[in-house]
Amino acid sequence: RIAYVNGRYLPHAGAAVHIEDRGFQFADGVYEVCEVRHGLIVDLTRHLDRLDRSLRELAIAQPMSRAALTAVIREVVRRNRVRNGLFYLQVTRGVARRDHVYPKAETPVSLVITAKQTDPAIIAAKNAKGLKAITLPDNRWDRVDIKTVGLLPNAMARQAAKEAGAQEAIYVDADGMVTEGAATNVWIVDGDGRLVTRPADHGILRGITRTGIQDVAAKLGIDIVERRFSRDEMLAAREVFITAATSICFPIVEIDGQTVANGHPGAMAERIRMAFFDVAE
Ligand code: PDD
Repeated sequence: RIAYVNGRYLPHAGAAVHIEDRGFQFADGVYEVCEVRHGLIVDLTRHLDRLDRSLRELAIAQPMSRAALTAVIREVVRRNRVRNGLFYLQVTRGVARRDHVYPKAETPVSLVITAKQTDPAIIAAKNAKGLKAITLPDNRWDRVDIKTVGLLPNAMARQAAKEAGAQEAIYVDADGMVTEGAATNVWIVDGDGRLVTRPADHGILRGITRTGIQDVAAKLGIDIVERRFSRDEMLAAREVFITAATSICFPIVEIDGQTVANGHPGAMAERIRMAFFDVAE
């Protein structure tokens, strides 16, 4: 495997950044994960728009022009021979002597890009069987709309899920309302058969897959409602599913040990997933 690190294509095994990179010391950086399907990058423009926004919100400089960045991404995908998989892109505020205050504006930012193949059989098995989730209090900061690499709460939540025999942790805010998953957005099908997801306020990341599914639902004539929903409503929902670039749309069949609906993946998740791929292709 090959990784791009600050202007160079390096063997993945030895690719490294400096010990005083602010990403390493302060989680002072942002990232994107984007799907590659049949050799094409899915929703690249939206991912790069969100990257721009994350950088702007944190006053981190652009690593390079969009055209140059796109060329590097394509080159990393090509060199790793990824047909179906993901690329990962991270920009940090760069290398500087440790000091909480930002370094001088001319400090070069760090840019790292990797790409890897994923196994379609594993994804298909998850879609067929559905996943289990746990719920946890949302203990993150109030700017999770910025896609920062400060993911320790998310890592802790996924670990807790794993230890409970589940695959995702779903965050619940102080009002008992679902925010999102540790690395996914959460959807339910409510009692009226409508697709419901939380409004993209500062309490969740505005997922690119979430936006794509809104497009798909509009095309299919499926009603989407952006409103908050509680953990209780989720447990009683007809269907629950989670979405992200890494998984598109995984059904959740059990939450905190309680079965969702009849315990099998639902028809809506399946329909959305199929249509999503039609639109993406
Ligand atoms: N995570 N919410 C959180 C907290 C996320 O980390 C992600 C994505 C999403 C879904 O966003 P999108 O549809 O743009 O992938 C929602 C990435 C995949 C990750 O951290 O691996």
